[in-house]
Amino acid sequence: MLSLLILFLLSTPIIGSPLGDYEKELNKEGLNVENIHKLLKEESKEVEEEFGNEDSKAEIEKLRSLYASTCPANGTLRPVKTELEINGELAKDLFEGDIVLTPEQWKVALDKDPENPMQRRQALSQSIQLWQPMGAPVIPFTFEPGFPADKKQIIIDSQRFWEQRTCVRFRPATSADRAVVSYNHNSAGCSSSVGMSGTKQTINLAPGCFSVTVVAHELSHAFGTLHVQSRSDRDNYIIVDTANIQKGTEHNFMRDPPYYGTLSTYGIPYEIGSIFSIDTNRPTIYTKPAYSQYQYSMEAPRATFYDTLLINKMYKCTDKCQNRLACQNNGVQDGADCNKCFCPRGWSGQLCDRRPADAQIVNLSGSQNLRVEIGDGVDRGFREKLYIIQAPAGKRIEATVTRVGDYQWSMCRSIGMEIVASKDTRVAGFRFCANSRIKPIVTDSNTMLVWVYVDNAYKFNADLSLRIG
Ligand SMILES: *[C@@H]1O[C@H](CO)[C@@H](O)[C@H](O)[C@H]1NC(C)=O
Ligand SMILES: *[C@@H]1O[C@H](CO)[C@@H](O)[C@H](O)[C@H]1NC(C)=O
Ligand SMILES: [Zn+2]
Repeated sequence: MLSLLILFLLSTPIIGSPLGDYEKELNKEGLNVENIHKLLKEESKEVEEEFGNEDSKAEIEKLRSLYASTCPANGTLRPVKTELEINGELAKDLFEGDIVLTPEQWKVALDKDPENPMQRRQALSQSIQLWQPMGAPVIPFTFEPGFPADKKQIIIDSQRFWEQRTCVRFRPATSADRAVVSYNHNSAGCSSSVGMSGTKQTINLAPGCFSVTVVAHELSHAFGTLHVQSRSDRDNYIIVDTANIQKGTEHNFMRDPPYYGTLSTYGIPYEIGSIFSIDTNRPTIYTKPAYSQYQYSMEAPRATFYDTLLINKMYKCTDKCQNRLACQNNGVQDGADCNKCFCPRGWSGQLCDRRPADAQIVNLSGSQNLRVEIGDGVDRGFREKLYIIQAPAGKRIEATVTRVGDYQWSMCRSIGMEIVASKDTRVAGFRFCANSRIKPIVTDSNTMLVWVYVDNAYKFNADLSLRIG
């Protein structure tokens, strides 16, 4: 039934009444669409109130000027379209910007206890179904009719991305399958259902959504994930600038709506650089001053260590492993393969006790300028390179980004550099993709990682001024 709903949704014009036919279908399912709109309006108002009070206003004003002082000069930044921007008006009826709720999930969101109208009888968290079996879930997939052949490789690569890192597996759907993920190219936006709907559920991909970055993100919603900014602990890390949100879509930035219920974070810390951390070019989200170096780290190009761990924990990927490995350097048993460890960035080998063979080691003995670069102008998909900068034992490294070229981007989603200054390399680092004026970065040990990445046919290079501190 859901597939039907989404197909209807896609055939409607984006501007005006984006979800006109979808709404008709929800009506058929016994849902009062006016109640949904009322709920979303209430949520938008709550978001407005949360960030519109005097305290928040003062803080936002400060963060706005901090942003203005670090972001490159006006007019030089190229915008990067993200799900929120591609979805535009569509986000008015979506959930968290790019999630399509099933009629059953809307019912949960609307279902107040008649005895106690302040409470809900059910929680959305309980209505999110995971794929089965636990420990080795298999997702049947198919393509909607007419899906362009030249775009299928992106889908296969995105599925493989998760297969290589988790126990989730994909196989072509057969007529006997009921629960199926179907890729739909004929879409006005990028969206997915959350969890397994139990019937055909589409992953909707408008022309701007065809990259492994976006497809892997939408796929993880189908696994059952939500965005980090809806976590109940988000206020410690970020603040939302409602002036930069398209009117009527503020509800997508709500923290922990009352009907969520107890959503497990699986012990994963809040990560600003997560693939589940979404933003717009405006920006909509400022990092709090203690995390200001993460301002350009939202909209990750790839799932981070913790993002991957989240999926592995959700699906109990390593519970079946009979062996226990002594993983080093914060590695954990690999969800895709019990016989090896899954390593944080900068580590490799079965036990994460070696440096990756393809990493470039830079031995730092004094002050030095370093040019990092990736890409040759030919479209070879996603390319990456890791620099491991090492100072003598007991020393620290200070890095100043002196130049980023050849293009300046407002978001570091497909092209950029990430500097990891922490000895604990599980946590995503600080990303750069423009000449942003951010204070020097200092490591907490004698090692710094610089990861450069580029998608499509772009090139990236940057100059760092390094010194031993
Ligand atoms: C960009 O221009 C606007 C309007 O002229 C100004 O208010 C803002 O401070 C400028 N930002 C930067 C980073 O120069
Ligand atoms: C860096 O130093 C290590 C020893 O500390 C040495 O084994 C390695 O060859 C050096 N690498 C380069 C690129 O100089
Ligand atoms: Zn999303």
